[in-house]
Amino acid sequence: ALDISRLRAESACITLDNGFGNTGSCESAITFLNGEKGILHYRGYPIEQLAEKSVFQEVAYLLYYGELPSQSELNLFKQKVASYSSLPQGIYNIIDQFPLEAHPMGVVSAAVSALSAFYPEFINPTSLSQADIDRAIAQLMGQIKIIIAYFFRRTQSQAPVPSDPSLIYAADFLNMLQGGEGNPIDPEVADALDTLLILHADHEQNCSTSTVRVIGSSKANIFATVSGGIDALWGQLHGGANQAVLEMLNEIQNNGGDYQKYLHKAKDKNDPFRLMGFGHRVYKNFDPRAKIIKNACDSVLQKLGIHDPLLDIARGLEEQALKDPYFIERHLYPNVDFYSGIIYQALGIPANMFTTMFAMGRMPGWLSQWKEMRASEATRIARPRQVYIGATARDYVAINQR
Ligand code: ACO
Repeated sequence: ALDISRLRAESACITLDNGFGNTGSCESAITFLNGEKGILHYRGYPIEQLAEKSVFQEVAYLLYYGELPSQSELNLFKQKVASYSSLPQGIYNIIDQFPLEAHPMGVVSAAVSALSAFYPEFINPTSLSQADIDRAIAQLMGQIKIIIAYFFRRTQSQAPVPSDPSLIYAADFLNMLQGGEGNPIDPEVADALDTLLILHADHEQNCSTSTVRVIGSSKANIFATVSGGIDALWGQLHGGANQAVLEMLNEIQNNGGDYQKYLHKAKDKNDPFRLMGFGHRVYKNFDPRAKIIKNACDSVLQKLGIHDPLLDIARGLEEQALKDPYFIERHLYPNVDFYSGIIYQALGIPANMFTTMFAMGRMPGWLSQWKEMRASEATRIARPRQVYIGATARDYVAINQR
């Protein structure tokens, strides 16, 4: 008979930490997070200040190089990113082969992975110079927005709009998505998207960033490494929650707006339903990004003159949940994804594209963490152990005797 307690005892020297809730996988100087106090800093700068005063490309520079850039450093960085405003023809051809109804995250992940076929100089990361490593951030920041916009325009049967490097990152992206001749992008709307990208830019060792570090630790190439991060982000417990939140709010609205019923469902331990956009592994009082997004949501809808009933449902859910002992005891608060989907929807971005916005925002974080991992002498291949609870040793039985 299987003696699981003996097997567990034999693995006593191994720390079992399901979901790595209490395991530090690396030392990092990039992002500081205090979950009890709801504090988030990038390189020491509070997220509130960066969201209010900075722009996404400046924050990307900060995460990647460790310091805020001077004006000339920022200009040079923007130029470098702008120099990757197109894709190899083969990548356009690959994207053209995807069905129009394909989920954009699958398309983005596949296209990013396929970049390795067109830039073989990146295949062996041990031979990369510092300049090559710096190029990776400019290239991937430049090309991810082209990939997303190109696929989206294709699904709309619209010709691509070329990138305009004179615009800030989010404005350029929105212009490629929905702009073009005679259809200028509202700068305030673009600023709101830029702020969202800042809020998503890094978040220490979350699921997708850990995936990037794990893949990168095997010395896989940068495109394969980041593609793995995109796939991890896609899951609905992680970045995919932004799409799931909007679908949940729509479902509540279509069922008469009775959000109390959904609160009950979320509390029912026999029901797998969870309140999407609620809860966080680290934040146990509030998610500082959610506070900023909630305000941004109000001002974007006001600016665009939109009254979105989904926002009323979201506010109602939040208000009720914050009074409910189930959510209070478990420290479940709205996270970054709870209100972001309402903003994306107001910007005219379809729900299945939401998580690609997150991927675009998280790119500087993934690349900064990859760069830091490469530079650290402490880095070893990521190779966790396990506690074995399977069958004990037994002899092979011939097939005719089973
Ligand atoms: N709705 C209802 N109950 C919840 C929720 C929720 N959203 N989140 C957690 N709980 C409950 C769990 O059922 C569990 O209850 P129990 O102690 O009675 O068993 C308790 O709270 C702890 O939950 P865990 O799953 O152990 O928490 P964990 O830290 O592993 O998970 C997570 C965090 C994945 C974010 C979780 O809160 C969740 O599923 N939230 C909904 C999805 C979501 O919004 N994800 C986005 C996160 S932010 C980001 O990745 C960008």
